[in-house]
This record gives sequence, C-alpha cells and structure tokens, in this order.
Amino acid sequence: MQDIDELAAELRTDIEAAGSLDDLEAVRVRALGRKGTITHLMKGLGAMEPEERRAAGTALNVLKDETVVAIEDRRTSLRNLALTEQLATESIDVTLPVRAEGCGRIHPVSQVVDEIVAIFADMGFAVAEGPDIEDDFYNFTALNIPPEHPARQMHDTFYLEAERDGAPLVLRTHTSPVQIRHMRSSPPPYRIIAPGRTFRCDSDMTHTPMFHQVEGLAIGHDIHMGHLKGCLEEFARVMFEDDNLRMRFRPSHFPFTEPSAEVDIGCSRKGKELRIGEGGDWLEILGCGMVHPNVLENVGLDPNEWQGFAFGMGIDRIAMLKYGIPDLRAFFESDLRWLRHYGFAPFDVPTLAGGLAR
Ligand code: DAH
Repeated sequence: MQDIDELAAELRTDIEAAGSLDDLEAVRVRALGRKGTITHLMKGLGAMEPEERRAAGTALNVLKDETVVAIEDRRTSLRNLALTEQLATESIDVTLPVRAEGCGRIHPVSQVVDEIVAIFADMGFAVAEGPDIEDDFYNFTALNIPPEHPARQMHDTFYLEAERDGAPLVLRTHTSPVQIRHMRSSPPPYRIIAPGRTFRCDSDMTHTPMFHQVEGLAIGHDIHMGHLKGCLEEFARVMFEDDNLRMRFRPSHFPFTEPSAEVDIGCSRKGKELRIGEGGDWLEILGCGMVHPNVLENVGLDPNEWQGFAFGMGIDRIAMLKYGIPDLRAFFESDLRWLRHYGFAPFDVPTLAGGLAR
C-alpha cells in the first residue's frame, strides 16, 4: 500500500499546481473518485488486521477530510482569480462620449416628471405612488365625494367589470387617491408628491383617455394657505425659468379641499401661439386647497390637530407649454420621428444645480 504521508504530500502539490477549475476537478477525481487513490486505499481496509485497520482508517479519514478542504480552498481562490482577471479585461471606460446616433430619447412627459420631482425634492417632498386601478373608496368616497355627488359624473370614469368588497373598481380619474393611501399607510407629518397615470373617458386635441397628473400633499400642525402659495410660486418660477412669473389664485371648489383655489399663470395669446410669462392673459395650470377636515377624518387624523394643503396638476399640459408641443395626442403615438425631435438626451438628468432642461 502506498504510504499515506507520501500520498498526502503528492495531493497537496497537485492541488496547488491546478491552474484551472478543470485541472482541479481532475485532481479530485484521481483522489476521491470511485477509482481514486484514497477510495482505493479505503477499500483495502477490510482485508487488514483490526489493529492495523484502526490506525490506517483514522489516517485515511484525516487525509480525505484535509483533501476535501484543500480542494475547496483552491476552488475559491481559482474563482477569485478568474473574477479579478475578468474585471480587468472587461472594464468599461465610463468617461467615453455617448454616440448621439442610435441612442434613445427621454419622452417629454418623463422629462417633466423628473423636473417636477427635482423641484419639489429641493423643498423636502418625497415621491409616493399608488395603483392605476383603484377602489371606488380611494378614488371618490374617502376624498369626500359620496356616491350621489355630481363630481363623479364630471370625472368621466372608466368603470371595470371587477368589484372589490361589493364596489366597482375604476381606473383612477386623478392622483388624489394617493393622498389617502399615503396617509393611511404612515403617521403624519406628510410632505409628498405623487406623479402618475390617470384615466378619463375623453379624447380630442387637448384630452387623451390616459394622461398624467402630479398630486401634492403637505400635512403638519400649522401648515397654512401661505405655505401653499409660496410653494406653488416657487415651483412655477423654477419650472418656467422666470423669476417674475405672474400667478393668480382664484377661489374654486373641490370636494376634498376647503377653501379651494385654481391657479393661473400669466401668458399671452397671439393667434394660436401661447407664451408663458408675457402679456396680460391667464392660463389655468392646477387645482389646490386646504385638505378638507372630512378627508383627514377618513384617514383617522384629528382635524383639530392636523392640517395642510394639497394640489393636483396636469403634467402633459405643462410639458406642452414648456416645450412648445402643439398636439397632446402625439404624446402617445410612439412616433420615433416625433420622439427624436421633442425627446431629451438620456444623460441630461434634470437637477436644480445643473439646470432643469438642456
Ligand atoms: N384631483 C383634481 C382633479 O383631477 C385636482 C386637484 C384639485 C387635486 C385640488 C388636489 C386639490 O389635491 O387640492 O381635477
């Protein structure tokens, strides 16, 4: 029988010398496989005298365990070596210029969403999300729009055939239900915006059945109308890059706010051309107000302790205004020529420091 110490030394050398995972596997099979050296020696134990068998058995078991461990160690270091080599050869120079041709474009709606997020993030707002398919409760009832309320007709709702808890599911008609979901899921204070898709059964030059809104919500102990006004003025001035942009808050009505207002920004209209900022005309861009006490109660907040504002704004229209895009329907036609013309370079991420749109 081969001397065990000699075999151990031989195996150690072979394992260290294995230069690849395949070599190592071959060493393993030669030692521990069905016809391997260690296996062969173990089979020989049966023919030995008890004394001799005990000593040889122990030594062989030690050798076997050591060999398994040594192979495993070598396998790990071979893998690390291969990874280091791969990382060295497959590195990418991230400073290389992007080739303009063949490079995708960012849709104006995505661009404007990123701009809105950047502006409100700077004022401490986080982004919240909710589902496109909503319960009647979140889309209407919790927002102080009971079943018989006329606002339900005005929303041109898409009702689904499916129901939840005996009430129909709807495609959300506005992003306001995200207010409810957010307030129900975490304790106040809140400062969120919720951009997303919304749906109404309506289609012409300025309406598409799917469109985008962004909701805003700020709730605390002493948030008032002045905060709402300051916040929206800051937003509009940064968004339209005009420090003197005129704004007007008109009294209005929404079931989920009291008092409520609609906000207009200054513009001029010459024929079909509309310019933001200049002139004596007004253009409505959003609805807002102080969150109605009933809404706070519907999410389990005490209106004597908590108060704040909310607003809702159409995103597509902001994109049309800011980037001079005449027809809303083209937004959703997936025409690559249109996207190349109106789209944005993917690496120009909007930031307040770097500029919102370049
Ligand atoms: N949800 C309203 C709509 O789609 C917009 C709106 C108005 C949202 C006032 C608000 C708000 O949060 O306070 O017409």
